[in-house]
Amino acid sequence: MGQRRKRRLQTPASAVSYDLVIGAGILESLSSWLDLRGFSQVAVLTDTNVGPLWLEAVERGAGRSLPVWSMRAGEEHKTLVSLEGIWSWMADIGMDRKSLLLNLGGGLVGDVGGFAASCYMRGVAFAQLPTTLLAQVDASVGGKVGINFRGLKNLLGAFQQPCAVGMDIRTFATLPRRAFLAGVAEMLKHGLIRDRAYFEEIAAYEFGALGAKEGEALGELGDVAEQTWVDWIDRSCAIKAAIVEADERESGLRKLLNFGHTVGHALETLSYTADAPLLHGEAVGLGMIVEAEIASIAGFLDEGGVDTLVGTLARVGLPTRLGFLLDDGALWSAMRADKKNVRGAMRWTLLRSMGEGVFDQRVEDAVVEAALQRIR
Ligand SMILES: NC(=O)c1ccc[n+]([C@@H]2O[C@H](COP(=O)([O-])OP(=O)(O)OC[C@H]3O[C@@H](n4cnc5c(N)ncnc54)[C@H](O)[C@@H]3O)[C@@H](O)[C@H]2O)c1
Ligand SMILES: [Zn+2]
Repeated sequence: MGQRRKRRLQTPASAVSYDLVIGAGILESLSSWLDLRGFSQVAVLTDTNVGPLWLEAVERGAGRSLPVWSMRAGEEHKTLVSLEGIWSWMADIGMDRKSLLLNLGGGLVGDVGGFAASCYMRGVAFAQLPTTLLAQVDASVGGKVGINFRGLKNLLGAFQQPCAVGMDIRTFATLPRRAFLAGVAEMLKHGLIRDRAYFEEIAAYEFGALGAKEGEALGELGDVAEQTWVDWIDRSCAIKAAIVEADERESGLRKLLNFGHTVGHALETLSYTADAPLLHGEAVGLGMIVEAEIASIAGFLDEGGVDTLVGTLARVGLPTRLGFLLDDGALWSAMRADKKNVRGAMRWTLLRSMGEGVFDQRVEDAVVEAALQRIR
């Protein structure tokens, strides 16, 4: 058992609090940080990739074998059809109000499983066991759960907080390098909106030292790297938790976390149509470039900031240019569907400086068009 961090998140709106536990070997020590005894039943939702790799560790941590439902992996399965399968299984195994659902997987499993739990019998407890960097620093924290609908990201969902989140950094060993790096984009985002020094620390990291080549799984991180990543995941969680604690339902401040996402979500959706799928974090990286450029054209951010961001993403190994032709009409209609918009008018989260985000900004469409040139 290596390093372990524990951070408590308290939400005034739903008046709940829960622990974020971060470390190496967290799955195998599940019952040391989450008391399973009070639940009538404990079951696991996972996906077809993660189950074969990490279910055994969870069962060791629980001290027994558990009922399991394995949904199909991939964003295209973030649907009502998957939910129906999960709800049928929950009913079949007799889950009741006092049951606990453990969501073992990336942001997909966490979002779908959290939503399944929040509706089943009007809500049963769930814990997040995120197995991707992106899900650890972002998706598993803050209680946004949901599915895609009619081609729109997370159109159906809820704010429902988990009872605990356990982040095991050992799960990165089997994670494809590309998926790991996608998570770094969200960490850079945390630095950009709130903490410049954090952004700079990550930007200075030697990503080549991670070892794995493109297309490979990451493998063991080693003690030193484990320490660094536990620290950084905790820093990202601290930034996200502070924002969620101040504004759980996203009426204001929480919109900061959407930096890069107005454009990013649209690019993510279009990349599927274009048959060149971008991972969520990759799309967010590109979205951050465009939105930083918007901030720069609109006079908030100096041009050097955009260059620094582009250079950093490139050093990390994240895309800085689109790999497909953009259909402008489709792009605009996807961006106009963004949940931050009010009465059809777009609202942007931008940067005032490297380390300070601003939300609810209006900009001319022409500025957005010009900024898009930066990634074409
Ligand atoms: N709720 C939120 O606040 C929030 C925030 C950000 C993103 N999200 C959502 O999260 C999703 C993206 O999450 P993601 O990037 O984790 O994607 P993901 O869950 O689809 O996982 C990516 C791929 O890696 C596989 N995988 C996961 N963990 C693994 C491991 N340890 N070893 C090997 N393979 C593994 C998965 O099976 C999948 O094929 C999107 O649906 C996005 O909308 C939600
Ligand atoms: Zn995101």
